[in-house]
Amino acid sequence: MTGRRLWAVVPAAGVGRRMEADRPKQYLDLAGRPVIEWSLERLLDHPRVDGVVVAVADHDARWADLGYRHAKPIHRVAGGAERCHSVLSALDYLAVKAGAGDRVLVHDAVRPCLTAGELERLLDAGFDHPDGALLAMPVRDTLKRGNGAGVVEGTVDRDGLWHAQTPQLFPLDLLRTALRAAVAAGSPVTDEAWAVEAAGGRPLLVEGEATNLKVTRRADLHLASLILASFAPDRPAGEP
Ligand code: C5P
Repeated sequence: MTGRRLWAVVPAAGVGRRMEADRPKQYLDLAGRPVIEWSLERLLDHPRVDGVVVAVADHDARWADLGYRHAKPIHRVAGGAERCHSVLSALDYLAVKAGAGDRVLVHDAVRPCLTAGELERLLDAGFDHPDGALLAMPVRDTLKRGNGAGVVEGTVDRDGLWHAQTPQLFPLDLLRTALRAAVAAGSPVTDEAWAVEAAGGRPLLVEGEATNLKVTRRADLHLASLILASFAPDRPAGEP
């Protein structure tokens, strides 16, 4: 791992329509702090992470109002229309600073319950992997395909299926090239691994934790607060 730096990128330019709140979900209160601060802190507290780039919507005044600080550098860039544009904007910013072989960890602003343990597993498995790696969970439930009107159309074989989570870890150059190509092609990539796959890469799946949930709906906030409360402070950095 030596010699190459590790940057974190946090896309935070979403508006969170599914939450039906007065503000984007990354700014909602979770156990006394905005969701995004939990997500940022876990990344920045890792000794390997050199700094973070947060992609924030142009009109967003809340990010500056937070006044969030850390001993490591936090840069702000303008987000874009879709998540992939926001991530690409951060990678373009980093490309000027980064050296050959630097790595990037992309993590949703709305995943506040990442543990130090799963982040460590991801870095151990993926830092030197040429196609990168992502945290993911094997699908455990039976999967149904609906017909759009609430009726089962069929059952999908879950064998070999995983839920993709974040962080996702890649060589910065590889991800930037892959995302640029995906955006240029108009592909609807909803995570970074998809862009890398489309470019012919085969990222590693690293099993994560079910607690690393994405705050999407209001009930997720309650669940996230219970998860954080279960991370006793005397245990190392949020280990469940
Ligand atoms: O909307 P979704 O839950 O998939 O968002 C995942 C992450 O991507 C969130 O942190 C959100 O703020 C971010 N995002 C972004 N730019 C967009 C849309 C979403 O940075 N245009």
